[in-house]
Amino acid sequence: MLRLATYADVDDIVRIYNQALKPGIFATSQVAPDTSDERIAWLREHQDAYPAFVYEIENDKVIGWCSLSRSSVRPEYSGVAETSHYVDEGHQGKGIGNLMLAHLIETATKLGFRLLVSRVLERNLRSAKGAASLGFQRAVLLHEALRIRGEWHNDVWIWKKL
Ligand SMILES: CC(C)(COP(=O)(O)OP(=O)(O)OC[C@H]1O[C@@H](n2cnc3c(N)ncnc32)[C@H](O)[C@@H]1OP(=O)(O)O)[C@@H](O)C(=O)NCCC(=O)NCCS
Repeated sequence: MLRLATYADVDDIVRIYNQALKPGIFATSQVAPDTSDERIAWLREHQDAYPAFVYEIENDKVIGWCSLSRSSVRPEYSGVAETSHYVDEGHQGKGIGNLMLAHLIETATKLGFRLLVSRVLERNLRSAKGAASLGFQRAVLLHEALRIRGEWHNDVWIWKKL
């Protein structure tokens, strides 16, 4: 079940996000683990127009989260939101990522956004596949744009018109 994230979910959000920093996952350029304090501040910014959700299963266990974020501080870009979605490593490949991304698309449409954007490392095949099947298109590929643990990576910017 997807529901709005609360401050009680912060530790689960951090736990799931930090799993994605491990070598070989290629989910994010971040290497240093996230902290609960950083996520509390993040959640404060993820209310109302830019919501965050958690995916909860039996016994109130949180196994995923997703969010819409501001894409730019400039007000002219207020119609564009950035998507993020993360699934607990023990529950990946079962359709939950796609389900959460579809929920973000539906939510963003209801909130009146016009475009969704996301940045994906090219080697993150699962993320790229799921986004493509939900109608995201590749806008640009930045060849060897970032270096993680001594290795160059291509950065792909994807977008979807709502
Ligand atoms: C990326 C992520 C959110 C996808 O969620 P998921 O629940 O694991 O994936 P889903 O089961 O919804 O499948 C998504 C797509 O990947 C495909 N897929 C599933 N397992 C796969 C695998 N082992 N290898 C390649 N593709 C795979 C699915 O077929 C689906 O593609 P389709 O829509 O064309 O059928 C999740 O794996 C995750 O949290 N990864 C680490 C963090 C991350 O990369 N977040 C995204 C940052 S941009």
